[in-house]
Amino acid sequence: MRIIFLGAPGAGKGTQAELVSKKAGIPTISTGVILREAIKNKTPLGVSAQSYIEKGQLVPDELVIDILTDRLMQPDCKDGYILDGFPRTIAQAEALDKMNIKIDKVVNIYVPDEKIVERLAGRRSCPSCGATYHVVYNPSEDGVHCTKCTSELTQRTDDKPETILNRLEVYHKQTAPLEEFYRNRGILCDVVGQEELEDTTALTMKVLGLK
Ligand code: AP5
Repeated sequence: MRIIFLGAPGAGKGTQAELVSKKAGIPTISTGVILREAIKNKTPLGVSAQSYIEKGQLVPDELVIDILTDRLMQPDCKDGYILDGFPRTIAQAEALDKMNIKIDKVVNIYVPDEKIVERLAGRRSCPSCGATYHVVYNPSEDGVHCTKCTSELTQRTDDKPETILNRLEVYHKQTAPLEEFYRNRGILCDVVGQEELEDTTALTMKVLGLK
């Protein structure tokens, strides 16, 4: 199964993708995670991407398409995968077409903008294993360390209030047109993000036909 998770920043794509990944036994490929790792390791890709991410802008298409193309060649992708945060522009979606990749379903998670700001401002991430928490909605066991690997949790640099607003604007201008793009192909499944994480998971599993 090849699945895309679409939705505004903070809609819960990463959280749901992690759960579906475990259930379906397929990897999640998050371009955001790959880019943050590159920034942490100060690789040439990381150096090029850093200023875009810190301003809340999209990294240029050619860079992101290249990293995705490389990642899809890894053996763990042979039985399917979840794309979290890719595509984000029509050009990126067309790049998947050019690679002859057939997407089965696109899960479009909708959360209103005012909720997004609250979710992102309260998000905490594990710098070691990438697990994501929320100070209120999904706290780690002690609220300070990662429940999975005990590293101290941090706040993403792009989760500052002014950057969150830029990311939302970029989403509405550049990424939201993908909803129509995939709806016209009959593979878009809308999921309204719920207050309780588990309720969103139940709706996501339902549209994907998973139990
Ligand atoms: P990326 O890392 O992909 O960030 P994003 O799309 O902005 O999405 P987020 O990771 O912020 O949110 P999410 O939807 O995964 O929500 P989460 O599950 O964490 O990209 C970062 C940057 O990299 C981009 O801005 C761009 O610059 C660049 N980039 C990446 N891909 C690119 C591409 N293809 N092209 C160009 N540039 C690219 O949830 C958010 C919070 O809410 C968490 O705290 C969570 O615990 C909580 N939460 C989740 N679900 C619920 C719920 N149901 N109820 C309550 N709380 C919830």
